[in-house]
Amino acid sequence: MKNMQNVKIIGTGSYIPKKVLTNSDLEKIVDTNNEWIISRTGISERHLAEDNEATSDLSSRATLEAMKDANIKAEEIDLIIVATNSPDMVFPSTACLVQEKIKAKNAATFDLQAGCTGFVYGMVTAWQFIASGFYNNAIIIGAEALSKFVDWTDRNTCVLFGDGAGAVVLKANKMRGVLSGYLKGDGARADLIKFPAGASKIPASHETIEQKLHYIKMKGNEVFKIAVREMRRATLKALAKCNLSVNDVDCFIPHQANIRIISAVAKVLGIEKDKVFVNLNRYGNTSAASVAIALDEAVKEGKIKNGDIVVLTAFGAGLTSGSVVFRWDK
Ligand code: ACO
Repeated sequence: MKNMQNVKIIGTGSYIPKKVLTNSDLEKIVDTNNEWIISRTGISERHLAEDNEATSDLSSRATLEAMKDANIKAEEIDLIIVATNSPDMVFPSTACLVQEKIKAKNAATFDLQAGCTGFVYGMVTAWQFIASGFYNNAIIIGAEALSKFVDWTDRNTCVLFGDGAGAVVLKANKMRGVLSGYLKGDGARADLIKFPAGASKIPASHETIEQKLHYIKMKGNEVFKIAVREMRRATLKALAKCNLSVNDVDCFIPHQANIRIISAVAKVLGIEKDKVFVNLNRYGNTSAASVAIALDEAVKEGKIKNGDIVVLTAFGAGLTSGSVVFRWDK
C-alpha cells in the first residue's frame, strides 16, 4: 500500500432521458395543479426513463460522457460505484451491469444505497480507496429510474421525482482536489422514507401488490424539517474538517429535493443565493443522481471555475445525510 495520495475530479458527465412530464401533464393524472407544485416544491417538469431504459442504461450514458471528459479508457478504470435506490434488479449490482455496458473489464464493482445521499457517500468512499493507494481511479455514478417505483395515483409523491444520471471520475493527483467529507446515518428515522416490499422483510406476494407496498412511501412534511437541520450540520462539519468556513464556499450544490428546503438551508448557512446551484425546476428530485447531475451542469455552464471551493450536500432515505468539499482544478 502507498502512503496517502491526493485525489481530484478529472471528469464529469450526465444523462437525462428525453421524455418530459410537465406539471400540466400531472394535472391529468392526479388531483393536483401547476400552482401547488411550483409553490410547494419549485418543480416545473421532470424527465422519465423509457419503458426499455433501466438505471444501468442511464448510468452508462453519463459514465461514457464523464470518461470522455476525463480522457480515460474503459480498461484503465479501477472501480465503479453506482449510488442508486432504483437498481435494475436486487442483484446483480447495477455497477456490474454498467461495467459490461462500458467494457471496463478490469474494474471492481458495487452499488451503494444511501437514499438521496448516495452520490455523496460514493464520492467519500471512492476518495478513501484512492487516498489509501488501494486504487488509482474510480467512477462514481448517481443514477435513478425512480419513476418506475412511484405510485402514479399518489399525489404526495408522484409530483416530486424524476429520472437521470450523473457521473464523475476521481483520480490520484499531485493536486489536492477532494478536501473533506462528512457522512451520517439515522436508522431511528428509517420509517420516514421507504420502499417496503419485494425484499427479505416483506417478499413480493399478491397481498403486497394489492396493498401497494411496491412504491415509495414518504412522510414528506416530517422529512422537510429534518432535512434543513441535517444539511446545515453536514455542510458545517465537512467544512470544519478542512479548516474552511461558509465564507470560503464559491459554489454550493445541495440535493435538489424542494426549493423551499434549498432556500432554507442556504439561509441558515448564510450562503448567498448566487452561489447556490439549482436545476430542480427542470428535473424534480432525481434522488441519488441529483447532486451528480447538478455538478456536471454547473461545470458546463461555467458556474465553477478553477480554484473554486465546491460543496455537495445531500440528505435522504435512511435517514442519511452527508457533505463533500473539494477544490475545483481541471
Ligand atoms: N397537489 C395538491 N395538493 C397536494 C399535493 C399535490 N401534489 N400533495 C399534497 N397535497 C396537499 C396535502 O394533501 C395537504 O392537504 P391537506 O392540508 O388538506 O391535508 C396539503 O397539500 C399540504 O401537504 P403537506 O404534506 O403538509 O405539504 P408540504 O408543504 O410539506 O409539501 C412536500 C409536501 C413537497 C412533499 C414537502 O414536505 C417536501 O418536499 N418534503 C421533503 C421530501 C424529500 O425531500 N424527501 C427526501 C428525499 S426522497 C429519497 O430519499 C428517496
